[in-house]
Amino acid sequence: MATRPTLKGDVRDISLADAGALKIEWADRQMPVLSGIRERFAAERPLAGWKISACLHVTAETANLMRTLAAGGADAVLCSSNPLSTQDDVAASLVEHHGIPTFAIKGEDRDSYYSHIAAALDHAPQVTMDDGADLVSELHTSRTELLPDVVGGTEETTTGVIRLRAMAAAGKLRFPVLGVNEALTKHLFDNRYGTGQSAIDGILRATNVLIAGKQVVVGGYGWVGRGIASRAAGMGGIVTVVEVDPIRALEAAMDGYRVTTASAAAEVGEIFIAATGNLNVWGAADFPKMRDGVILANAGHFNDEFELSALESQAASSREVRPFTREYLMADGRRLFLLADGRLVNLGAAEGHPALVMDMSFANQALGLEWLRSHVGDLKPEVYGIPDEIDREVARLKLESMGIEIDPMTKAQKAYSESWESGT
Ligand code: NAD
Ligand code: ADE
Repeated sequence: MATRPTLKGDVRDISLADAGALKIEWADRQMPVLSGIRERFAAERPLAGWKISACLHVTAETANLMRTLAAGGADAVLCSSNPLSTQDDVAASLVEHHGIPTFAIKGEDRDSYYSHIAAALDHAPQVTMDDGADLVSELHTSRTELLPDVVGGTEETTTGVIRLRAMAAAGKLRFPVLGVNEALTKHLFDNRYGTGQSAIDGILRATNVLIAGKQVVVGGYGWVGRGIASRAAGMGGIVTVVEVDPIRALEAAMDGYRVTTASAAAEVGEIFIAATGNLNVWGAADFPKMRDGVILANAGHFNDEFELSALESQAASSREVRPFTREYLMADGRRLFLLADGRLVNLGAAEGHPALVMDMSFANQALGLEWLRSHVGDLKPEVYGIPDEIDREVARLKLESMGIEIDPMTKAQKAYSESWESGT
């Protein structure tokens, strides 16, 4: 799988393109903010001539983002930001119907994954788009000859923003990056409601278990973790939260969840869902304590939230018992079920977030790129947030698309809210 593909793309099967086109069209119906931006971009061409290499989950929603960039005049190529998140039919349609070189195959191995990133970088981008910072990391380590031409980038997810901030702090980051995740209209909705629903969706598609009455343990009470906890509780799960941050642990407790340590939770859980962005939340010392039949699902960016090497070495054998469900038979006869190889369960075993929520994330991406174009000269090699005016505009457009009207403040209210003179 490690051959270096040409710039036309590398997809599983181009004959899947028509099925992919239907999925892209379906998603587009629920992405009115992005499609409005696409119409304006087609008229104004704000990205004209920009060469973009994007490394994102190759889904129907991402396809609509790529169409928007192309409408804006960008010359964009796409590779996947995870070996298991690609929708092969969508990838085929991007190549066949939209002429967007796409390098992504669902289930590809590590060599293929990195050869696809290398192929996207062969495009010699001026701008990068990343979800998790693998492309930017490759650019700064293996492809430094390309760095002088890169003027900026965007980053979609929490883990990517953390990695890029670490690069900037170490003086390694060579161009400015817009942290799309920092937009309120991104993480409050995508991370919370998007992952809240789609992680449960992935678990259900993989296992068809009943959540009601089950002991569900959620690792991390950040934006993703709280979304998952609330959806699992809403379906009747008995939810326990594991946190390392005292404030977030307190929030979880006062939101009504049981809060305990990872080790104590290991003994009671029936479904474990990790969403910390950290490694080894459950590992070698925990697997022996887990009950027979437990389900292990990861919703965090990388596949290291469960210590998979320990699971492999402790297990007597393993086999795939359903698509995206691997059974590990332990020496004492217990069976532990790992979903989607420990990769993002919502994108591996399901279709990722619904389009309605990706509409806001990708509106921020598109408007962020437009903003970047007019500000590149002013920015340092740091991670920037999405400007507040863009964030608010995305919220306004989303409300409008949902037919929701809100009150503006009256003049008197505005003056009052900005004053200090009036009191009791
Ligand atoms: P966040 O920073 O808001 O929350 C992470 C939480 O995990 C924090 O509260 C932190 O204190 C806690 N934590 C860290 N280490 C821990 C440990 N060892 N045990 C218990 N808790 C621990 O981040 P977020 O926005 O919720 O994102 C979490 C992860 O999900 C990231 O990797 C992010 O990139 C990823 N993500 C995935 C999807 C998806 O589609 N599956 C979508 C958005 C974000
Ligand atoms: N991340 C989570 N869900 C996604 C989706 N549907 N498309 C692209 N990236 C995603």
